[in-house]
Amino acid sequence: MLKRTHNCGQLRLEAAGKKVTLAGWVHSYRDHGGLVFIDLRDKEGLTQLVFNPETQPEIHKQARAVRCEWVMAARGIVQPRGEGLENPKLPTGQIEVAVQEVEILNTSKTPPFEIEDGIKTSEEVRLTRRYIDLRRPQMQKTLRVRHRVTKMVRDYFDQLGFLEIETPILAKSTPEGARDFLVPSRLMPNCFYALPQSPQLFKQILMVGGVDKYFQIVRCFRDEDPRADRQAEFTQIDVEMSFVDCNDIIGVHENLVAKIWKRVIGAEVKAPMRRMSYKEAIDNYGTDRPDLRFDMKLCDITDIAKASTFKVFTSTVEKGGRVKGLCVPGGGEKYSRNDIEKTLTEFAADYGAKGLAWLKVKTEDGKLTLSSNIAKFFTPEQIGRIIERFGAKDGDLVLLVADAEKGANKALAPLRCKIARDLKLYDEEAFEFVWIVDFPLFEWNEDEKRYDSLHHPFTAPVPEELHKLDSDPANICSQAYDIVVNGYEIGGGSIRIHDPKVQEKVFDLLKISRQQAQQRFGFFLQALEYGAPPHGGIAFGLDRMIMMLTGTENIRDVIAFPKTQRGQCLMTEAPSEVDQKQLDELNLRTQKHLHAIEQKKE
Ligand code: AMO
Ligand code: AMP
Repeated sequence: MLKRTHNCGQLRLEAAGKKVTLAGWVHSYRDHGGLVFIDLRDKEGLTQLVFNPETQPEIHKQARAVRCEWVMAARGIVQPRGEGLENPKLPTGQIEVAVQEVEILNTSKTPPFEIEDGIKTSEEVRLTRRYIDLRRPQMQKTLRVRHRVTKMVRDYFDQLGFLEIETPILAKSTPEGARDFLVPSRLMPNCFYALPQSPQLFKQILMVGGVDKYFQIVRCFRDEDPRADRQAEFTQIDVEMSFVDCNDIIGVHENLVAKIWKRVIGAEVKAPMRRMSYKEAIDNYGTDRPDLRFDMKLCDITDIAKASTFKVFTSTVEKGGRVKGLCVPGGGEKYSRNDIEKTLTEFAADYGAKGLAWLKVKTEDGKLTLSSNIAKFFTPEQIGRIIERFGAKDGDLVLLVADAEKGANKALAPLRCKIARDLKLYDEEAFEFVWIVDFPLFEWNEDEKRYDSLHHPFTAPVPEELHKLDSDPANICSQAYDIVVNGYEIGGGSIRIHDPKVQEKVFDLLKISRQQAQQRFGFFLQALEYGAPPHGGIAFGLDRMIMMLTGTENIRDVIAFPKTQRGQCLMTEAPSEVDQKQLDELNLRTQKHLHAIEQKKE
């Protein structure tokens, strides 16, 4: 085989006169009757090869036979392209290689789609032939970004004295709130491993084991329905440290993020980053992952609404609900009545809103003229107060939702983002980072009449509020922090409970009985009894970080071999049925098998 000397994307005018050997895929092919031109492609880019029938008749004949995506190597001389034949769009557009020797290394079927960015091919086809999709420049770039980030992460933590330690994949279930993937044990019939939802308990036990500073780039498994930013199998940058407080952990990780953003995409990220309390985030943005590239804060007008004559509002307030909304700058002109009552109302309804009240603010000759579906239920004085509360100006649009506070936020937060996207209210290149802090430790679960952890059950309360575990659990602040960028939660963690008594108390509030706790986390509670140091940590969603760095909203774009919304790998066709023999060894019966047995009996 001809030995490759250069990459296809690497050659520039300085190389003119050099003899080079390139290898790659035939990207495109042009036969001009006389000269044959082939764009040869590898992971770095394209180089134009030229085959001359007069000087190299044999090779020219070989070149005429090749087709797209055939694999070949070519040796020849780099030469400047002729006057006016340069291609300014290609980094190698000033040169070409006059081929003297060629070797066809493989043929290819015609690929089902072109190896170009921005193709319209369905994702299903791309995922089924992922090896072809991976040849596209954007995919190659994403794989490189991902590699650079993991390399930087390893170097960064190594320099700070962290150890990368692997934790089991065949593990016992740890509660991160999702469903477990289970793996049956052959050697212990009727027993199952759980694939880890995260290495949470192992990393905490590593602290008890004296490791002090741990990190791992680790696969986590959660049997949830995949979404645009969620896969059942995803990767975390997982970290744990001993003898630290929240500020130590936040400091180490915001510096890491700033370094990655600077080196990988040249973006300046200021550290220390902004911090915002959970309450401020919920009140102003309706979510604990606010997109801060634009303002458009939510406002609460419950006090004004309850004095109106609009039944929907007054009855919601009577039931303890709120009336909240947002003011769209210039929205009165940009959205027609039809846009509001159809598109925006339907969008809000998809997120549970029972309706959308609206108010277009317009002044003509200094006089306020309103167009609204609810103004008739308010006095002019009340309307004036609403306008003032929102700071609404001429041409603005006020949108309101009445519901229980959670419900109103659930609809308004995505509506705020949709409108900002529709109206291009932000710079798409900008990154707005924020640490969300001061989370409540618990959330009341009305259905099950017990508390839920807002993060996970191992999160520590702030020390001054420990006493409230007995008296006022609903109002305990935790030592948890999430890092959010442009509306995506890219990481989260906390200082942990290291006192087994506090841990037991938390399990009690979560209504996990002593017996259940022993059965599920007995090993962990025991570990805490053997001198657990104060410790805390964090995990970043690596996939989400790469989504941000490469500017995609689809998590499947940043994973080499991702799963579909139904959890399938279209290329390998996993999950799939297995042989009965395999099931027998595992002592398992499928529904299908049981059904067959039933039928035999009949
Ligand atoms: P958490 O569950 O918040 O915390 O996960 C940490 C980060 O992982 C990312 N992430 C996901 N990314 C893609 N697909 C998913 N299904 C998915 N689920 C989570 C998010 C999230 O911020 N053990 C704790 C961390 C700790 O306390 O140290 C944990 O796993 O970006
Ligand atoms: P209705 O009297 O139900 O026809 O509602 C009158 C207007 O109020 C409609 O345009 C609805 O979209 C709006 N609306 C209804 N319910 C709510 C709600 N819970 N919050 C905000 N607006 C609402």
